[in-house]
Amino acid sequence: MKKKLIKVLRLAALLLIGQSSYAQQTYNFELDTKKIGSPVQSTMYGLFFEDINFAADGGLYAELIKNRSFDFPQSLLGWYTFGKVEVTKSNPLFDRNPNYVILSDPGHAHKRTGIENEGFRGIGFKTDATYRFSVWAKSMNATGDQKIRVEFINSKNDIIGSEEVVINSSDWKKYQVVLTSKATEEKGRLRIFLASNGSVALEHVSLFPTDTYKGRENGLRKDLAQALTDIHPGVFRFPGGCIVEGTDLDSRYDWKKSVGPVENRPVNENRWHYTFPHRFFPDYYQSYGLGFYEYFLLSEDMGAEPLPVLSCGLACQYQNEDEHCHVPVGELDSYVQDALDLIEFANGPVTSTWGKLRADMGHPSPFNLKYIGIGNEQWGKEYPERLEPFVKAICAKYPNIKVIGSSGPSADGKEFDYLWPEMKRLKVDLVDEHYYKEPEWFLANANRYDNYDRKGPAVFAGEYASHDHSTGKQNNFLSALTEAAFMTGLERNADIVHMCTYAPLFAHVDAWQWNPDMIWFDNLRMMKTPNYYVQQLYAHNAGTNTMNLTRDKKAIAGQDNLYASAVYDKDQNCYIVKVANTSTEVKDIRIALSGVKKGVTFSVGDCTTIHNNNLKAINTLDESNIIPKSTTATLDGNVLNVKAEGQSFNVYKIKY
Ligand code: AHR
Repeated sequence: MKKKLIKVLRLAALLLIGQSSYAQQTYNFELDTKKIGSPVQSTMYGLFFEDINFAADGGLYAELIKNRSFDFPQSLLGWYTFGKVEVTKSNPLFDRNPNYVILSDPGHAHKRTGIENEGFRGIGFKTDATYRFSVWAKSMNATGDQKIRVEFINSKNDIIGSEEVVINSSDWKKYQVVLTSKATEEKGRLRIFLASNGSVALEHVSLFPTDTYKGRENGLRKDLAQALTDIHPGVFRFPGGCIVEGTDLDSRYDWKKSVGPVENRPVNENRWHYTFPHRFFPDYYQSYGLGFYEYFLLSEDMGAEPLPVLSCGLACQYQNEDEHCHVPVGELDSYVQDALDLIEFANGPVTSTWGKLRADMGHPSPFNLKYIGIGNEQWGKEYPERLEPFVKAICAKYPNIKVIGSSGPSADGKEFDYLWPEMKRLKVDLVDEHYYKEPEWFLANANRYDNYDRKGPAVFAGEYASHDHSTGKQNNFLSALTEAAFMTGLERNADIVHMCTYAPLFAHVDAWQWNPDMIWFDNLRMMKTPNYYVQQLYAHNAGTNTMNLTRDKKAIAGQDNLYASAVYDKDQNCYIVKVANTSTEVKDIRIALSGVKKGVTFSVGDCTTIHNNNLKAINTLDESNIIPKSTTATLDGNVLNVKAEGQSFNVYKIKY
């Protein structure tokens, strides 16, 4: 019995020794402090915005009324009518949005006339919040005031807010009234009753929360804009994506239609309307209310460099194989002029045509535009031959503006291999690369840029996201962790990677076409995905210079499931080390600072981790558990000792 006990104890002791020797395996990293590396561009971590998934109208743009000017091709789409309602465009108030409605006495004491708007999958109202209703209106009766009653309706058809507006002129005038909501409702409606016996004409019916981002009247949804600002993006790319190209040239994003008074910005069919037959959204239009002026303003508010992308005269090549669908190479003048005019709009003096428009819109000082993208996901010889006249014209007139070209829709392959040399030949400043790939690809490509050509244009990783197809492409922790691991490679190569932007940015939970997306929202709430937090961790810890971080003299790009990079931050006087551990085990990592000058001492600064045991875990609108948390590290002289949790992404600051 005694012998047996001794045997068991011996075995237990052996197992313990085995375990502790396993747990004690240390991964030795070396951070060479002798050489401060290349600058990390201030544009390194940015945002890509596209009006996809109801990201603009129905999303970031705080307008709550869909089809506010009755100019969708089906003029009453989004509206319910009752009584006597007529749509007309006779003597229009706004030439580019000519339709308006006339509400007339229904002709019976117990009948009513009115219109009701369904919003974007409903209208979100919050208890005690105030909303600015505005409308252009005129009385259609020669004498006497007319009256309309404006009501907020909840999903049970109760009135939760109401005000009257007197229409006291037979000339078009803008009327405004502020309403307070008595209740919270995610899927409300706006109802307008004719409350007098004559007729009124109504045009551009609008409703905004008064509490918009920065309090602007034609403003942005505060929570969503704030979430973008909180990333501290270095660059803001807009307006897309494929909407730059359009399903056809007519539906391309035309920036000139998106500026000037909002009432006269014409409606455009959103190209995501029917891009995917299985996600068909026949009510998806662009009001252009969130237009280029507003994009520039948002960039400025966020402290991000604005990066507009314009059509190069090619409609979406996936959908337009016939060359007649595109602008012939010799007929691009007006497109090239659009690019030059845009630069004038952003930077020109107030005495210039487009600079004056910017000033008239409220921003006399320039927006200080430095970058412009020409073309989105283009390919074939059709692209460089069209890009060339843009590059020549822009460089001739604005030599300081940096031009961004495209390497097509794929991360590699025939088109990619053809376009990169073409971009070099055309001497664009940056090349936009896109990769929507499975998680394994992101891990395998953490060293993608380690051996890139350093002599050509810089890289703009303009659209990327890790797509876990096994979960229907959810924004799960696996996707975020693999992006974090991959991004160590972007950071290590910040000498040639000058910008990167996750895509797409936003999605309405009831009206999305594409997933995953960085921020999800409904009409009242929003949810930051784990992917959002990874982007934020990089942007907040971008540093100012790359640093050489190695293990066994090699870049740390997947050996033993570890991915790491480091930067120096001259403003904060610290080194910042990022480590992704994609294994399930805790890893003991020893980060030795080599080449340290005598007398220099270090301390541990803020350390942050985002970690989850379940790779399939997600955040939801109701519960967000995957968020960055503080973690610890210890310093032993010039050595930082850390324990990186299994399945974690970590940011360690070493101050001196
Ligand atoms: O981000 C969604 C789409 O993906 C973009 O519009 C397009 O550029 C890419 O194909």
